[in-house]
Amino acid sequence: MKRIAIVAGASSGMGMEFVKQIKEEFKNLDEIWVIARRTERLEKLADELSTETCEIVCLSIDLTDARQRERFARALHEEKPYIKVLVNAAGYGKVGSFSEMSRKDLTGMAELNCVALTDMTHMCLKYMKKGSVIFQFASAAAFLPQPRFAVYAATKSYVLSLSRALNRECKKKGILVTTICPGPVNTEFFEIAEKTGTIKSYKKLVMVEAQRVVAKAISDAKYGKTISVYGFTMKAGRLLAKLVPHELLIRFFG
Ligand SMILES: NC(=O)c1ccc[n+]([C@@H]2O[C@H](COP(=O)([O-])OP(=O)(O)OC[C@H]3O[C@@H](n4cnc5c(N)ncnc54)[C@H](OP(=O)(O)O)[C@@H]3O)[C@@H](O)[C@H]2O)c1
Repeated sequence: MKRIAIVAGASSGMGMEFVKQIKEEFKNLDEIWVIARRTERLEKLADELSTETCEIVCLSIDLTDARQRERFARALHEEKPYIKVLVNAAGYGKVGSFSEMSRKDLTGMAELNCVALTDMTHMCLKYMKKGSVIFQFASAAAFLPQPRFAVYAATKSYVLSLSRALNRECKKKGILVTTICPGPVNTEFFEIAEKTGTIKSYKKLVMVEAQRVVAKAISDAKYGKTISVYGFTMKAGRLLAKLVPHELLIRFFG
């Protein structure tokens, strides 16, 4: 039985960074399956990182397409691997007022960030056992509703809620679910987010590098932490959202 890791959203940003760090941190993996739509990016990553003992296997899949996810389910069924690590990093957010944004943009976020993540997690879970880890990308946006980023923040609240509950369900099996809640990170995320509007400038002032967020998440998982928040600013934000009435915070930050 092959020991594998699976990274969804591996063609850029934090997903790609995860592939690099998993290779170093999780020894004895036979393969890392990398998933995204941009095949050439995945193949470049495979060329760079594949070794004789650990192959990077490229799967070009649009995760919002249920039929393409079915292809992934079949690949799992045929291989019957032991999944040591699953990273659900495929996701995007688009900024803008709810009423002015297109239905496609709004529902697309929910389809990728929520539906696809749920399906991926469910498909992979039956190939996991004691010692397996699931990394779910939520966001600091999960802590507080965000006007003009409303659907994105709501999708991330969904991921955080789902993953915390799932972690509890998985405890008996010895499987850990670590949910990552970053603030602004320097990736292609912002290019996509700003196609429909402008992100508040204070967010860009607290931007951090993907490498650090991923390293912190892997380290947090080693300590069995269920939520990983990188940096003082986002930790303070999380605390604020626990202590101060949300209506006040939304008025101030919204
Ligand atoms: N950057 C931030 O500030 C930030 C902060 C908090 C949370 N997050 C979350 O962190 C996660 C990673 O984001 P990132 O910053 O690394 O963004 P990114 O650089 O834009 O990467 C997003 C990844 O998702 C993949 N993806 C997008 N649509 C897909 C689809 N339909 N099917 C399959 N793959 C798809 C992209 O690949 P293809 O385009 O090749 O398909 C890419 O590999 C996301 O869930 C994001 O919401 C980001």
